[in-house]
Amino acid sequence: MTCTILVGGQWGDEGKGKCITYFCTKDKPDIIARAGVGPNAGHSVECDGEKYALRLTPSGFFNTDARLLIGAGVLVNPEVFKHELEYLKKYDVKGRTFMDANCAIITEKHTQADKDSAYLSKKIGTTGSGCGPANAERINRTIDYAKDISELEEFITDVPTEVNKAIAEGKDVFVEGSQGFGLSLYYGTYPFVTSKDTCASTAAADVGIGPTKVDEVVVIFKAYTTRVGEGPFPTEISPEEAEKMGIEEYGVVTGRKRRVGLFDKEFAKRSCMINGATQIALTCIDRLYPECYQANKYDDLSQEAKDYIVDIEKDVGVPITIISTGPDLADTIDLRDEKLN
Ligand code: GTP
Ligand code: IMP
Ligand code: MG
Repeated sequence: MTCTILVGGQWGDEGKGKCITYFCTKDKPDIIARAGVGPNAGHSVECDGEKYALRLTPSGFFNTDARLLIGAGVLVNPEVFKHELEYLKKYDVKGRTFMDANCAIITEKHTQADKDSAYLSKKIGTTGSGCGPANAERINRTIDYAKDISELEEFITDVPTEVNKAIAEGKDVFVEGSQGFGLSLYYGTYPFVTSKDTCASTAAADVGIGPTKVDEVVVIFKAYTTRVGEGPFPTEISPEEAEKMGIEEYGVVTGRKRRVGLFDKEFAKRSCMINGATQIALTCIDRLYPECYQANKYDDLSQEAKDYIVDIEKDVGVPITIISTGPDLADTIDLRDEKLN
């Protein structure tokens, strides 16, 4: 029985979608539960040449035997939820995707307020998905919950009961966070953050799991760093330098160009400390070392890439167990049973 939480270690977009898909296809958890803020997230999932961009549905949907749950802490936009049920029809998500009765509901009023506020949309550079205004209304205790919306009735379940029952029965539960450590309302670069804490403890609370039930915390890092929106970024490099390194990325939700920087070990260490990391997943190593693209054995990595990875593991002090070498599920090195050398 393993209860695993995966969270972003930087400013989001670390490749959570890809790594969650890997864990959920390889380890076949019985329940995949989505934690995190809400539909401000954009997770990319690629498998067998197909590419999906998701905002609410758990990224582990490829595992068609799993139940897909959205925890009470997560904001739900019913339009986005229904669109994704249709979008992922091929994977029979309808009938196995449910949200907690206490998920708070984003409406047009919230998305409009997010876009209309110059402070939010310009100064902070939000995603415009209504999450900040909805969480503000939640704190004011005036927002509707899923249980108040009759059209959502068929999609409602008691997520904490399902998840805790599964754990008690010795089943595997995988909890996926969204955003990243630097965007935490508590520990990130305030005020240039999202509207909630993004760390593993909050992810557990989002789905109704107590800290004593969590076995593994995977913190995911890109081999370099990216950030969308405004705010401090100590290791940022110029767009010209990023281009020279062959790195150019655009946001899944907003289409905005991502700012690029070097890997920040001190930041990673703090992120691992506050998240209680037991493992690190390191993605996009192929973008720094193109010769490593699609490698799926550690020995197939170049010496330069190995040195870079070992150096991060040594300095951050947490084992790197997954190395991602491309966007597809197959482009993965799984070191959970090996030691780096
Ligand atoms: P957020 O919730 O927004 O943080 O989403 P995310 O962490 O799932 O990341 P997102 O999908 O926004 O961005 C990561 C991008 O990198 C996507 O286009 C992925 O397909 C891609 N990707 C993930 N892992 C790798 C990798 O190892 N190598 C390469 N080349 N691309 C990768
Ligand atoms: P909000 O969460 O839409 O309020 O945006 C607040 C900040 O978090 C902005 O800088 C956004 O760019 C950033 N942000 C929110 N969600 C994500 C994400 O999934 N990936 C990357 N950045 C995000
Ligand atoms: Mg993203």
